[in-house]
This record gives sequence, C-alpha cells and structure tokens, in this order.
Amino acid sequence: MRVFSGIQPTGDKHFGNYSGGFRQYAATQEEADAFFCVVDLHSITVEYDPDDLRERTLDLAAMLFATGLDPERSTVFVQSHVSAHAEAAWLLGSVTSMGELRRMTQFKEKSDQHEFVSAGLFTYPVLMAGDILLYQTDVVPIGDDQRQHLELTRDAAERFNARFGETFTVPEAVYPEEGARVKNLQEPERLMSTTRGAPQGVVRLIDPPDVIRRKFKTAVTDSGREVKHDPKEKAGVSNLIEIMAVATGASIADVESRYDGTGYGQFK
Ligand code: TYM
Repeated sequence: MRVFSGIQPTGDKHFGNYSGGFRQYAATQEEADAFFCVVDLHSITVEYDPDDLRERTLDLAAMLFATGLDPERSTVFVQSHVSAHAEAAWLLGSVTSMGELRRMTQFKEKSDQHEFVSAGLFTYPVLMAGDILLYQTDVVPIGDDQRQHLELTRDAAERFNARFGETFTVPEAVYPEEGARVKNLQEPERLMSTTRGAPQGVVRLIDPPDVIRRKFKTAVTDSGREVKHDPKEKAGVSNLIEIMAVATGASIADVESRYDGTGYGQFK
C-alpha cells in the first residue's frame, strides 16, 4: 500500500495540523510505503520571502521527524527537488476544468486575503493532484479542510484514465475520526489556521507550555453549564472536547463524562 501526504512549509504549524495531519503519518509507516512531502511549490502561490521559505522548509522537516517519521522507513522529501511534480501539474491541468477550480472554497477564501491573486493560487489543487497521482497513491491521510482538493484529484485521475487508459491509481482520503476539523479557540466557528482568525485562538506547536496553557484558559466556551459534544449548539466546548480527546487518546464520551459533574469519568 502506498501512502502520500503533503504539508506546506509556510505558516506556523498548529494543533490542527497535528490532529488532522502529523498524528496520522507516523502510524502509516509501519504497514505502508509512505511518502511525506514538504510542498514548497504550494507555498510560493502567495507572497513569500525566499530565505524565510528555505529556513521553514528545514524546520518543517525537523518537525516531521520529531513526530516520529523515520527516514529509514518513510520517504520525507522537498517537492521542488523532484521536478516531476511541476510537470505532472501541467499535464493534469489539461484534464481539469476552470469550473471545477472556481468551485474550490479554499481558493475563494485565500483570494479574498491577497491583493495579488496569482494564477498559481488558482491552479494550486492541480499541483496537489500531481503530488498524489505521481506516486500511484492508495491512501492520503489528511484533515477535513482538504476534502474538496482530494475530490478534485480523484476526478482528474478518473478522467485521465477514461481518456487515455488506466494510468493512475484513484486515491482514497483518510480523515481522523476525531479532530479532522480543529477550530480556532477564540472563534470556534472557524478552522484553526495561522493565516486566518484570532492569533490567541491558534495553538502553535512551537508555543511554550505557558502560552499554550493561557490560550486554552481563555478559550471561548458558551453560557451553558453542560459539557457535551454538540458541534452545532456548542461549538466552543465541542472543539475543546475533541482537542482533549486527541491529546489524551481518550474517547469523546470519556472526556464528556469526566466533566459531567458525576466525577465517574476516567481517562484510560
Ligand atoms: P497544510 O500544510 O495546510 O496542512 C497540513 C495538514 O494539516 C491539516 N490541517 C488540519 N486538520 C485539522 N484541523 C485543522 N484546523 C487543520 N488545518 C490543517 C491539513 O488537512 C493537512 O492534512 N494543500 C495541502 C498540502 C498538500 C497536500 C498535497 C496534502 C499539497 N499536496 C498532497 C496531501 C496530499 C495543505 O495546504 O496542507
């Protein structure tokens, strides 16, 4: 089985990246042929500083090794070092429609944030499709925010195969059961991200412990007293419960029962 995932080197990595991405990676290297790519070509679709990008590329590689990726068992590499990624994006661009790309919500959000909207930002999902399809990937461990991009990748592979004969494996995405969409602690209706939303609500992986503690202590909850996982009615509390479940390995029900006032809940 072949596993592939990509991570952008720009923007400080945060608990959402850990929960939806990193956390899943190391486990896959036991049973699969795993590839993890620092996608620097994706990062240049918005303004960037070349020296900063170089430094962050190395920092991210170090962080990936710190999460347990073992270079003896997984292939960890930089996207721009393999020119086939850019070539694949060009070829796949011809089996992807403008209409599909225009429907990408991430493009809509990002293009609102930048004065200069590059063509690269628009075709970003095609490069991502190239990353995945180049390696005949079976499984892509990923957070829920990338769902639309994964669907586009599958559609591009199917279209290519239908036109030119069986060429690409059609990949499956794997989302974690809990914590696939970690929200900003201050704005629980919004995804945790370093490019959008209140910075105090973003738990960065390199934040010192006292800063992390402060961010959690000031997290937005709600006016009710009940501690219950109900993302529609109680977005803030539900987000905290999920984070607690991911961080401790307990189930959502265990976390709820620990705070339900009975005192019976236990962490395993
Ligand atoms: P990136 O670098 O933004 O994020 C890396 C991983 O973290 C996940 N993630 C989240 N999961 C849960 N909650 C959140 N708030 C959250 N924020 C981010 C992402 O889903 C991702 O798994 N386009 C991709 C990079 C990419 C890629 C690929 C991924 C390029 N080519 C090929 C997989 C396969 C991105 O920007 O991820």
